[in-house]
Amino acid sequence: MFRCSLQGHRRLYSTKPLFPTKTIRTLLSEKPQPNVTIRGWIRSVRQQKQLSFATINDGSTLKGIQAILNDDQPIHKLSTGTCVELQGILATSPGKEQSMELQVNKVKILGECDSTYPLQKKRHTLEFMRTINHLRSRANTGSAVLRIRHAASEGLQKFFANQEFIQVNTPLLTSSDCEGGGEVFSVAPSDFFKKPVYLTVSGQLHAEIMATSMGRVYTFGPVFRAEESMTSRHLAEFWMAEAEMTFIDSLDQLLDVTEASIQQTTQHVMTTCQEDVAFFNQWIDKHLLDKLQKSVDKPFVRMTYTEAIDILQRSKKKFDFPTTWGSSLQSEHERYLVSDDCCGRPVFVTDYPKELKPFYMRDNLDGKTVGCFDLLIPGIGELVGGSMREERYDVLQYKMEMANMNCEDYQWYLDLRKYGSAPHGGYGIGFERLMLWLTGLDNVREVVPIPRWVGHCKY
Ligand code: 4AD
Repeated sequence: MFRCSLQGHRRLYSTKPLFPTKTIRTLLSEKPQPNVTIRGWIRSVRQQKQLSFATINDGSTLKGIQAILNDDQPIHKLSTGTCVELQGILATSPGKEQSMELQVNKVKILGECDSTYPLQKKRHTLEFMRTINHLRSRANTGSAVLRIRHAASEGLQKFFANQEFIQVNTPLLTSSDCEGGGEVFSVAPSDFFKKPVYLTVSGQLHAEIMATSMGRVYTFGPVFRAEESMTSRHLAEFWMAEAEMTFIDSLDQLLDVTEASIQQTTQHVMTTCQEDVAFFNQWIDKHLLDKLQKSVDKPFVRMTYTEAIDILQRSKKKFDFPTTWGSSLQSEHERYLVSDDCCGRPVFVTDYPKELKPFYMRDNLDGKTVGCFDLLIPGIGELVGGSMREERYDVLQYKMEMANMNCEDYQWYLDLRKYGSAPHGGYGIGFERLMLWLTGLDNVREVVPIPRWVGHCKY
């Protein structure tokens, strides 16, 4: 019975479980016991003369649990995909594949499964699975992705909380274009706000508002880019974790924070999702575990853009795009810098020419470069972008004018430099690219449950 009383100032909560059945993950960590109930979906059924074996999965673990059923059960109705409630005895399994099994004495069918169910007990390609997004997480890769996504988000947020960041929520509707790249989605109806409004490409400018009163803040949410390129690294809707810190004094300090956030998140995923990471190591990338372990054991490499150009020019590799000072680093260049032929681990490239970067990045003393960085990681390329922010009013105003921005529209942003300005900086982690790093998958469309990219917005 639910009890809740006020005694003195203490409130007593009921300890009654909120859910009548435990997850398979929890049950597998407990001792053998009678009278257990599980609920889940049948992944496979194998019928023998007197006994049948069904694998049940409820999304809480990769492998699920093996259920042993006898002739008295309605076995003929138990096809792959059926949703069931099973009662029985949780017993130690004599088999090698699993430690526990469920010896079933009662079956309740919660939802029958039509014979057109497209998932059968065989390996399906990632491309095929993408055509049935609504069933993707019923299979191993899709569900392992979701568990790792959850753990990565938890790891990041844990890192920020430990470092005393405050989570803030930045708007999705905005009248500014943070990156100035023109890849904004316009919001209709256009006369609603009486001015052009877009879906945000980054929460940074708004996060800066809160950093200049709260110190350390972060925001974690979806951002949108009308990105026409159909690459394996680009989505139209993706998630970004963006940190903004006031009172940091140098770019090096910003790199330290970025490095620690990636390393501690990677470690958190490796610790809390061992089974799933091992699955990706076995089926997707045989070097995954090794690569992740190395990245948490060793510091990332740090080099300036100028040094990177020098390395590219001196390498014996032929590149399609120019490697002259002032040109953008292309994917081929980024991949080379992190490859085993060069650094073989994550690399921070810092201090790019100011012409290549947005208006808000702080000018360096050399007059040619800005205090910024891209973090490049093996096999993927750019994972994080960040910079020290221009905190000097006049310099910022000049940079905005040079970028042909309407300073009136951004007066609020300039005001932050007028009313107690402070040195600050921040960075944004592309969450789907982080997921590629953590799973070894090589297309961002595999690591977001319902992907959106140019020409594709199903569901
Ligand atoms: O480098 P970007 O454009 O940086 C910003 O938006 C800054 N305002 C962030 C900040 O300092 N607060 O984007 C950050 C990261 C990239 O490094 C990349 O990982 C990811 O976002 N990214 C994308 N991920 C998927 N699809 C796309 N179209 C992406 N564009 C960028």
